[in-house]
Amino acid sequence: MFWGIIKAFVKGILRSRLSVAGAVMASVILPVLAVFTILDVQGIVRNPYFNFINYVVLGPLFIVGLIMLVVGLLVGKGDEDLGAFTYEYLKEQFSKPGRFTRVRRLLFLITVLTFATIIVVGLVSYTGLRYTDSTSFCGQFCHQVMEPEYVTYRNSPHSQVPCVACHFGEGSWSPGTKLSGIRQIFAVAFNTYSRPIPSPISHLRPTRKSCEQCHLPEKFHGDKLYVKDRYLDDEHNTHVQTVMLMKVGSGGGYRGAQAHGIHWHVATENKVYYRAVDAQRNVISEIRLRKQDGSEVVYAAGGGKFAGVGTLRLMDCTDCHNRPTHVFLSPAEALDRKMFEGEIPLSLPYVKKVGLEAVTKEYASVDEARVGIGRYLRAWYAKNYPELMERRTSLINRAAEGIFHAYSENVFPAMNVGWSTYQSFLGHHDGGGCFRCHDGKHLTQDGTAITNDCNACHIVLAENEPSPDVVRLLRGSE
Ligand code: HEC
Ligand code: HEC
Ligand code: HEC
Ligand code: HEC
Ligand code: HEC
Repeated sequence: MFWGIIKAFVKGILRSRLSVAGAVMASVILPVLAVFTILDVQGIVRNPYFNFINYVVLGPLFIVGLIMLVVGLLVGKGDEDLGAFTYEYLKEQFSKPGRFTRVRRLLFLITVLTFATIIVVGLVSYTGLRYTDSTSFCGQFCHQVMEPEYVTYRNSPHSQVPCVACHFGEGSWSPGTKLSGIRQIFAVAFNTYSRPIPSPISHLRPTRKSCEQCHLPEKFHGDKLYVKDRYLDDEHNTHVQTVMLMKVGSGGGYRGAQAHGIHWHVATENKVYYRAVDAQRNVISEIRLRKQDGSEVVYAAGGGKFAGVGTLRLMDCTDCHNRPTHVFLSPAEALDRKMFEGEIPLSLPYVKKVGLEAVTKEYASVDEARVGIGRYLRAWYAKNYPELMERRTSLINRAAEGIFHAYSENVFPAMNVGWSTYQSFLGHHDGGGCFRCHDGKHLTQDGTAITNDCNACHIVLAENEPSPDVVRLLRGSE
């Protein structure tokens, strides 16, 4: 009878220690797993550690329990009772009239159990995979390790784009990425990860599949005006602006448009390959421009004596936009931004200068920086503006807080990330960025260089000028 089958089943389990252990494990974990999964799916608990325990620890343990149970049943001794599940047994049951219902019940029980298992395992695996793809898992679970990337990401235009959209590809589960994820979890657990996390990372998604899901350089066009607000380090923290007409251009190809300007590099008809000597891709030995008709132009450094040195790479978005979301600012940029947003009061004399001094000192930790920056500011104003220090202490404290934020959003001592750890390729600071190729020193055989003309990429309309003519003209204020 029905109970007979259950009894046989239970007996079968009891005979093997492995099965017993598996059954205990699975039945203890199941209710917890069910409750946790409901709490997560319903959005009642939002905590990366909670999800980690549920999907990465409990889920797999539950499945291991089930596997132990089945393996124990199959290899356990005592063939007699195990016979309850064999073909011979079933044949006997079918051949005896009246026994048929017992078999039906048996099949029914097995079907129900199988479905229940499939549903639980399926739900846990699905939500588990989705969880390990989530920004919360990537950015917050390994809190300290990912803090620099997570904080800068939160402050960037891409703060709502999931990490996996650029890094692995959402939902496209591949054993490789999950395995590398597991390796990284071990690196965190055993404290063997590198500080800072090295860049570049070789396994970014191809940009056709990431950036180009949202941005299509084919459809960019023409020039764009860029205005940068800055403050000088004089007594009045004078507000100045740099204005540039950027030749953003287009990737071409859309309705016959010609590729031109800056995004010419990513047009489908041009393939710009280059070889970098170092891992950071700062020193480029040669550039190969492959045109649609198959012809190739080679620009080489040092008269071609480094030909073939370094690995060949096809230029894509991240060879210029290597910091689209993990944007680490320079000390001056970080302070300018806080001043522009009003976090650092402009009325405080020399606040830019003092801020720069305070923020570029070495601090062992973020807490030390907070204390150190405040102390430095108060000491400086007490010495140079004693009256101000007495009357406007709260203003100075507010400035210290803003300056500290400029620090804490860009410097992460625990990960050894300082002001210049991660450099951007967008521009030409210190001869890097665009000037890795556009330096006039990479030449073809007949001596032609990649353009170094100051007006090839932009027209600088004003450089660090207080109230530039062009801005006044555009605003119509005179
Ligand atoms: C808009 C695309 C994009 C998003 C979204 C994104 N990243 Fe990145 N990430 C990049 C690029 C590009 C690099 C730099 C690659 C290089 O220099 O080779 C990078 C580099 C990194 C690095 C290596 C260290 C470094 O700063 O160069 C880590 C770690 C990282 N990202 C983690 C994350 C995490 C965690 C998230 C989500 C919180 C995230 N990323 C979201 C594009 C993205
Ligand atoms: C899921 C969509 C999405 C993806 C994927 C994406 N972006 Fe963006 N990106 C945006 C949006 C939306 C903005 C505009 C945000 C704003 O103006 O606040 C933006 C802004 C930008 C900007 C202008 C930044 C600025 O400071 O104004 C650049 C450059 C950029 N993205 C490059 C990239 C690159 C390079 C990648 C691939 C590594 C990428 N994006 C991937 C949606 C995306
Ligand atoms: C040769 C370097 C280079 C390459 C390659 C490149 N960009 Fe750009 N991109 C720039 C520069 C320079 C700007 C101007 C913005 C600036 O200076 O901050 C820009 C601007 C942009 C902007 C803002 C445009 C606007 O109209 O506001 C987006 C979005 C963008 N790029 C996306 C991409 C994507 C996506 C790719 C890859 C398909 C790509 N870029 C490839 C250099 C490049
Ligand atoms: C890996 C090398 C490399 C890097 C890095 C690079 N370029 Fe270029 N760029 C080239 C080559 C090659 C050409 C084609 C030269 C020619 O045809 O004379 C070119 C051409 C251009 C042109 C002229 C396009 C046209 O209309 O014909 C512009 C504008 C330009 N680059 C802007 C930039 C900017 C801005 C950056 C940095 C953000 C940059 N490039 C970084 C290799 C590079
Ligand atoms: C290959 C393209 C290219 C060439 C050639 C080039 N620039 Fe630039 N320049 C850029 C880009 C890209 C930026 C960065 C824009 C940004 O920060 O968003 C920039 C930024 C600047 C800035 C503003 C810097 C700042 O942030 O204050 C100045 C000034 C400037 N360039 C001057 C020059 C001069 C002078 C030359 C000639 C020697 C030159 N550039 C040649 C691409 C180029």
